[in-house]
Amino acid sequence: MGDIIYDASSRCWILQMEASTYCIGLSSDDTSLQHLYWGPRIASAEALEMAHPPGSSLVPFESATGISREEYAPWGEMRFSEPSLKVEYTDGTRVIEWVFEEHGLDRAGESQTLWLRFRDRAYPFTVTLYYRIYEGHDVIERWVRLENSGGSGPVTIEQALSADWQLPSSGRYRLTYLHGRWGKETQVAQTILGPGKVVLESRRGATSHQFNPWVALDPEARATEESGEVWSAALAWSGSWKIVVERTPYGEVHCAGGVNDFDFRYRLDEGARLELPAFVGLYSSEGFGGVSRGWHAYEREQVFPEAPEAVRPVLYNSWEATEFAVNERNQMELAEKAAELGVEVFVMDDGWFGMRHTEYAGLGDWTINPEKFPHGLNPLIARVHALGMRFGLWVEPEMVNPDSNLYRAHPDWVYHFRHRSRTEGRNQLVLNLAREDVRAWVYATLDTLLSEQQIEFVKWDMNRYFSEPGWPDEAGRNPERVWLEHVRTLYGIIDELRRRHPQVAFESCAGGGGRVDLGILSRVEQVWPSDNTDALDRLRIQEGFSYAYAPRVMMCWVTDCPNFVTKRTVPLRYRFHVAMAGALGIGGDLSRWTPQEREEARGFIATYKRVRATIQNGLLYRLRSPRAGSVAASQYVARDGSEVVVFVWGHSQQFGETRVALPLRGLEEEAHYADSISGATYSGAYFAQKGLPVNLVGDFDSRMIHLVRTTPAR
Ligand code: DGJ
Repeated sequence: MGDIIYDASSRCWILQMEASTYCIGLSSDDTSLQHLYWGPRIASAEALEMAHPPGSSLVPFESATGISREEYAPWGEMRFSEPSLKVEYTDGTRVIEWVFEEHGLDRAGESQTLWLRFRDRAYPFTVTLYYRIYEGHDVIERWVRLENSGGSGPVTIEQALSADWQLPSSGRYRLTYLHGRWGKETQVAQTILGPGKVVLESRRGATSHQFNPWVALDPEARATEESGEVWSAALAWSGSWKIVVERTPYGEVHCAGGVNDFDFRYRLDEGARLELPAFVGLYSSEGFGGVSRGWHAYEREQVFPEAPEAVRPVLYNSWEATEFAVNERNQMELAEKAAELGVEVFVMDDGWFGMRHTEYAGLGDWTINPEKFPHGLNPLIARVHALGMRFGLWVEPEMVNPDSNLYRAHPDWVYHFRHRSRTEGRNQLVLNLAREDVRAWVYATLDTLLSEQQIEFVKWDMNRYFSEPGWPDEAGRNPERVWLEHVRTLYGIIDELRRRHPQVAFESCAGGGGRVDLGILSRVEQVWPSDNTDALDRLRIQEGFSYAYAPRVMMCWVTDCPNFVTKRTVPLRYRFHVAMAGALGIGGDLSRWTPQEREEARGFIATYKRVRATIQNGLLYRLRSPRAGSVAASQYVARDGSEVVVFVWGHSQQFGETRVALPLRGLEEEAHYADSISGATYSGAYFAQKGLPVNLVGDFDSRMIHLVRTTPAR
């Protein structure tokens, strides 16, 4: 049972979660909130024993508060490590001195939220720290609300992070994080923290391909895939962000994160409030696998817009087949072929609107191209529906090509500075969503599109980052707020569209995985992890993705060979087995697939549908990393334990070593499991000890093994 307890005598709060405990307490003078404990679950009385006044030992050149382990540090006093909050008051005062004011606890359904309010001693400025926990999880959502209650002018926020996670004291920490670039997202990197800071960030206006706002830390680099303590944190924010992992000169490690303060200033007017996105923390004693399963469970139950047990449909996407050359005829032909395979959603990608024949023109003109679709989209949509599929459409609403009617009419709608270039990325510019007229136009355009056509799926793309993020008309009126407002408006538009069009599911795409984070994932059903659809490269991208995010939201397409990124050719079966490890889609040119290939594909899709609930929503065990050798494997166990799916991918066989034995995880030792094809039956203990035997032949061989529990659950 989770609970939040307040101990009035020690002025401490204890957050009791499924298998972990978190404890914080006020300093004796009420001026700082101290971190006391975060780790495996302990009794509340034991947690309270950790209560102590801040920084009892005196260190030359430091103050007690400055080297204490604060939950959220306002810049001021002798604080020299990464602050959580820095503001400037109208009279030029630039440090905060705050004092605790009050606290409260809100219970709602499965969650409990603790809030603690601090107010500046001299100015009408309050900071409320939030902590939310959920029944059955080891996750803490932390965020902050800033409020200017008025009377002494605006307050300028220069840095406002969402939370600062203090890690238990340990000699050494290893940091695990996800980095990459276009076509190579979510690569796992690990480094031992030395003294100083590691800053992971995006200054790009969106989450970024380069770094994902997720980290894991394990003391002494002791954690393995299935054992050892790991502390992890992830940001629910889709704009520029920053995570600072700092090892102080006193050996303490903390991890502060939130909206990026680079080029940032936010003027909080009298009477105004600013609520910052959540920086979520998670503890697991079961290694990196345990951390991932903890994130997946939290996402399914508390973050994703769909129900925890919902499954994503099999999707077809036209992009790699027809690129910009979409038309009624070729899309209908693809739709017929997709339906024959068992596809459930047909998505027409870029190219259907304005003068969008190439990437040079048309973005912003969201009217159906009459040459490509002389009768509008409705005949195609009707055909897709008649074939028993849902219809999906690609849009990129935040962007405009200079060669478009929209830009010709509204050149001032894009981010720009006077007397400066407007740097184009993929021949496009970014619309200033912070402007009310732009927001209203984007919303109305999409609302009309979804109202006039029976669309059930929207792929929302974003194919460049911000440059020259100016708003000349607002000079002197805090134009730097665009860094925040763009994302808040984006969220607001999606939220409103979802309310008005509840039948529509959304996919977040930003030239692949440029916008994957807990913020966007709370309002879209799935994300596109990478434009790179090469099956071998995908194994690495998907592995990193799975550290932080659940398989259900990871869209994976089977595409044609040679692959357009790597020029590699691999068997159709291998491509399917890799794509079946998440939410399965097809992205190849089906008009060129042979009858045999289509038959094979039909079989894979039928199999996938039988086991997808376990893949998308089950417990994931990464049995072998694609980084570790020539064979990779993942296992998925149904949440009720009734079935198990294992994928084994062998990419380059050496020395004729064909046989692999894979010890399985998460099975009941005494239960028996039968291979659904061969019927071979063994106990959970056998599979865990002896392993699942698999023979792989030659290069790019792969297997999917499906085990069904034959004995009833204990
Ligand atoms: C980038 C996306 O990642 C692709 O899947 C495709 O939608 C193109 N944009 C279309 O321009």
